[in-house]
Amino acid sequence: METPFDAVKSLKRKDIYTYQHSINVGIYSKNFALFLGSCDPETVFTCALFHDIGKLFINNRILKKKGRLTPEEFDAMKLHSCLSMEYLMKRGYNKEIYLSVYHHHEKYDGTGYPAGLKGDQIPLISQIISLCDCFDAMTSKRHYRNAMSHKEALDNLKASGGQFNPWLLDIFVSCINDIVYLPASLIRKNGFNNSKPTGF
Ligand SMILES: [Fe+2]
Repeated sequence: METPFDAVKSLKRKDIYTYQHSINVGIYSKNFALFLGSCDPETVFTCALFHDIGKLFINNRILKKKGRLTPEEFDAMKLHSCLSMEYLMKRGYNKEIYLSVYHHHEKYDGTGYPAGLKGDQIPLISQIISLCDCFDAMTSKRHYRNAMSHKEALDNLKASGGQFNPWLLDIFVSCINDIVYLPASLIRKNGFNNSKPTGF
């Protein structure tokens, strides 16, 4: 049977950044869940590895576009959370997993997508992924900007208004060094190239 690791490796052929980002968010989210103790770390790991798997079905012209997306392109890109959910439903993953993935772009103040959920309506696993997703995006080098330091990224998260659950954000900031610690055993076991481009 295809493992989550095999599946996410298919992203490597599509878009190396999304692949690397999925691995990073998987590890950060699992470590954060271990620290929180409120949900199963392995379930969180699976959800986080798969959160952007729907990007397999997004046109490369949009996925790898160097400039700013047009509103139409951004709408097409936003479909990836639904496509990720469909991917997982087709493969028999349970409701907790596919719904947590579906809602990973919701924001605590209700301004996110796809459902515009607010506050505690958003599954806790989705909230964990969202924080780790933004942190990794900011601390990774992109073709249009350098990577931020951990401190700059945390300052940005803290300045993001009501986008994140304040309780969860405080814990994330307080245990960031535990979250970004990368166990060598995980790298060896799965044969990933986990070296972050910069800022790690
Ligand atoms: Fe996403």
